[in-house]
Amino acid sequence: MRVRRCQAIAAPAPAERTPQGKDRWPQQTVLGKTSNRPCWDTTATLPLVFLCTLGRAGAMREEAADLAAIRPGESVLEVGCGTGELTRRARSRAGSAAIVAGIDPSAEMIGVARAKSQRAGLGIDYRVAAIEALPFADASFDVVLSSLMMHHLPEDLKHLGLAEVRRVLKPGGRLLIVDMKRPTSRLALPIVMHGGMTHGVQDLPAVVSGAGFVDVETGDTRFGPLGFVAAHVPA
Ligand SMILES: C[S@@+](CC[C@H](N)C(=O)[O-])C[C@H]1O[C@@H](n2cnc3c(N)ncnc32)[C@H](O)[C@@H]1O
Repeated sequence: MRVRRCQAIAAPAPAERTPQGKDRWPQQTVLGKTSNRPCWDTTATLPLVFLCTLGRAGAMREEAADLAAIRPGESVLEVGCGTGELTRRARSRAGSAAIVAGIDPSAEMIGVARAKSQRAGLGIDYRVAAIEALPFADASFDVVLSSLMMHHLPEDLKHLGLAEVRRVLKPGGRLLIVDMKRPTSRLALPIVMHGGMTHGVQDLPAVVSGAGFVDVETGDTRFGPLGFVAAHVPA
């Protein structure tokens, strides 16, 4: 089985706290860009994410959290959480008493996510793990989220990963995926896409249904190149 994961970023240099309580990051060069911004923010401004969200990645994650309709007290897992930008939005919707977790195979991403969670007292359970081997018991979560992660997986891993997601969701639990559409114009995203893109979010409903989910819905987001898939585990 071929496993392709997106390239992990280098471990971030530590930030200093300014007297105003803000983080000041040392200058660093990431993927050829030199910046005083933290390296994951620099990575987030890569052309692909920038183009997909027109520079509004935060608004895209807010929309993902809205689409998931997370209710207070619901347990939530984000798969491929990166530095935890969507996971922390899940925490604010689920509330402080709920179990909120995030997994990512990149130890660097998880290190950053944990540091942000600790600093803000969010109590999110972040773990280094991959979607194809989730370190959680069966029926642990009400909601599983995935944002801009599925397109990184080869087809066989999508099947394995979604079977794992179904396993850790409770009966009646919900899955919400936001990801890139397969470009329909030859002038569109393939220009900037890493590794080309023959499959997109439009192709996921079949895989999601195949993993045993029901009520599979798909639609557009406010960001043209991004769509969503929502589905339930049978109650
Ligand atoms: C573009 S980032 C998106 C991060 C985050 N979800 C967000 O919206 O900001 C894609 C993430 O998918 C993760 N990833 C790649 N392969 C994965 C796998 N097999 N299982 C889980 N996550 C994976 C990467 O490490 C990376 O953090």
